[in-house]
Amino acid sequence: MSARAAPGRFVTLEGGEGSGKTTLSRALAAALAAGGLPVLRTREPGGAPGAEAVRRLILGEGPWDPTAEAMLHFAARREHVVRTVAPALAAGIWVVCDRFADSTLAYQGAGQGLSHDVWERLCDLALGALRPDLTLVLDLPPERGMGRALLRGDVNRYEMQGPDFHARVRAAFLDIAGREPGRCAVIDAARPAEAVLLAALAATRDRLGLAP
Ligand code: TYD
Repeated sequence: MSARAAPGRFVTLEGGEGSGKTTLSRALAAALAAGGLPVLRTREPGGAPGAEAVRRLILGEGPWDPTAEAMLHFAARREHVVRTVAPALAAGIWVVCDRFADSTLAYQGAGQGLSHDVWERLCDLALGALRPDLTLVLDLPPERGMGRALLRGDVNRYEMQGPDFHARVRAAFLDIAGREPGRCAVIDAARPAEAVLLAALAATRDRLGLAP
């Protein structure tokens, strides 16, 4: 009988607009792979064919009712979890995911007024027992992040929201990290990408028990 692979670990990256999640997810996945770990890099909304279709709906249409919008994010998330994340973890692959359920709490909750209770019920329905092993919260003053996002061009519906919205989103991520210090590590994302990667690797090593 072949030995079953140890389950992979589920690492999520969260933060406001322009906080460098995509850059970090590339660098972190590459560093973990260079250390000999099998790694899958993915993102939300998206990460599976049906979830990518829902992403186009969420970003291309609207405005949505906040509960409907949260349900769309969770419909995409369910597809992503079932088709991509859970099979990878079961096969011993580490999953590095750009945004996950905390983004719905920050954007649809703090940003758009969805209640914590509805968010929790959607998590239970869509995720079962699956939760990230580690969440890296990239923290940056929203005006700096928006500056980066605007330079990048192609601004989406969320990025077009006003400064108050982005301030609430930032506060929500910090609040989540404060309430779950065992799962979350806050990283100062105002620093250069190399420093952010080093901090992310240190948190991954400390929290998930990797060799240095
Ligand atoms: P994307 O272009 O991927 O932005 P980013 O690089 O900042 O992740 O667009 C995803 C947008 O969707 C982003 O602005 C945040 C928003 N979002 C939510 O509002 N709720 C969610 O649950 C998720 C996953 C994303």
